[in-house]
Amino acid sequence: MGATLLETLRGELGLSGTKIACGEGHCGACTVLLDGVPVLSCITLVHTVGEREVTTIEGLREHPLVRSFVRADALQCGFCTPGQIVSAAALVGAVPEPSREEIRHHMAGNICRCGAYPRIEEAILTWRD
Ligand code: FES
Ligand code: FES
Repeated sequence: MGATLLETLRGELGLSGTKIACGEGHCGACTVLLDGVPVLSCITLVHTVGEREVTTIEGLREHPLVRSFVRADALQCGFCTPGQIVSAAALVGAVPEPSREEIRHHMAGNICRCGAYPRIEEAILTWRD
């Protein structure tokens, strides 16, 4: 088996914004976008990426979601936050005004051990404010 996308991003490219937690595809901490679609980089082999564009949290520094997460105080330890923002960016890119239900459905794979879910939801609801 080859290297994972996560290993390549963090190890070879030094892009440490993408977090590793479970390493088994269960928590969403390692979420990145491939051509705008969220994937779990810990279970994605780098050789399968092909020509697709990879977007990590480093590439979303200027995204309004970063400010809305801060405004809504949508984090405690912050460990899950890069993955949350990356997933949310895919959602609001496709659905600019998502409902609470759409947010919960889309974000279900992003676990927050600190339980910041209500404020994460608020941050996504108000991302354009
Ligand atoms: S670290 Fe990839 S899903 Fe948990
Ligand atoms: S803010 Fe700590 S895990 Fe989400």
